[in-house]
Amino acid sequence: MDYAATGSQALARIAESGNLDALEALRIEFLGKQGSISGLLKTLGGMSADERQSEGPKIHALREDVSAALAAHKDALESAALEARLASESIDLSLPAPASPRGTIHPVSQVMDELAEIFADLGFAVATGPEIEDGWHNFTALNMPESHPARAMHDTFYFPDRNESGEEMLLRTHTSPVQIRTMLEQGAPLRIIAPGRVYRSDSDATHTPMFHQIEGLVIDKGIHLGHLKWTLETMLGAFFERDDIVLRLRPSYFPFTEPSVEVDTGYSFEGGRRVVGGSGDAPGHSWMELLGSGMVNRHVLAAGGLDPDEWQGFAFGVGVDRLAMLKYGMNDLRAFFDGDVRWLAHYGFSPLDVPTLSGGVGAGA
Ligand code: PHE
Repeated sequence: MDYAATGSQALARIAESGNLDALEALRIEFLGKQGSISGLLKTLGGMSADERQSEGPKIHALREDVSAALAAHKDALESAALEARLASESIDLSLPAPASPRGTIHPVSQVMDELAEIFADLGFAVATGPEIEDGWHNFTALNMPESHPARAMHDTFYFPDRNESGEEMLLRTHTSPVQIRTMLEQGAPLRIIAPGRVYRSDSDATHTPMFHQIEGLVIDKGIHLGHLKWTLETMLGAFFERDDIVLRLRPSYFPFTEPSVEVDTGYSFEGGRRVVGGSGDAPGHSWMELLGSGMVNRHVLAAGGLDPDEWQGFAFGVGVDRLAMLKYGMNDLRAFFDGDVRWLAHYGFSPLDVPTLSGGVGAGA
């Protein structure tokens, strides 16, 4: 038998087979149970010892060659298939990058996030309350009974109807009602900030009917004005990222604090822009009013369900829009609420620029 011819025929057919299925059919034809080369191996059993000696190695060699050729061609077909897949799935790295996200974070949201981060570091939690408030939380519990003149001075938006308890309903004029709600819900001690929208019927270049405040409230034992001053200095230093913030505390009046303190900060003009820092009495500097604060009035503690002989506290309220304008150099408050995408593209913040104390609370505009 001419094993060499059988071999070269088999190898030629293997080389020609163009896909894995055809190749598998050849493997079965040659080496399967009924395969032609398997058949040759079976003939060894019927041979004489001499014949087996001379034929055996040739048949085994034929079998080796054919199975090696099958394996090699299988590899080749598989890598050709892989190459074809890679070619069809390729990415053209020379294409321009996709457009970056278009939306931006509004400066008011950014400043609220910055302040929440700063106060979280000082151990303050974030509290909230409703924007549709009742007269008791917004005024009465804050030491402004119905007859109080401050109540009339607040430019309040009222709803036409009272609630089930006969309370007048209104859009909250400040975030201070959250003081009352939090004391009643959580008791003392307390360390909270309450950011949110507030409403007053007032509108010109520096006032919008809706604006934003952050309320701060600390209730504990032995709290005094020194704690308030340190907290405000620390907060404003971190917020403006300056170590030369100088505060001036002026006696003032709020019904819900006693004593009440108006807080001014020194600033100067640099390149036509207000820059916070230094004493307002220094050459080229002035003072500007920044926020209202004071020690929580005894009547307010009592309305919040706390014993004023046991607990003391301080509170402050600051305009967020004002802080944003100062820090990021914007001069028209009304533009904040126009929803003009060009303004937002210019003054907005990248959604990926989450303010952190380690990364800087003022991450690039
Ligand atoms: N609620 C006051 C305002 O809106 C600010 C304030 C808050 C003052 C807390 C003192 C204490 O003007």
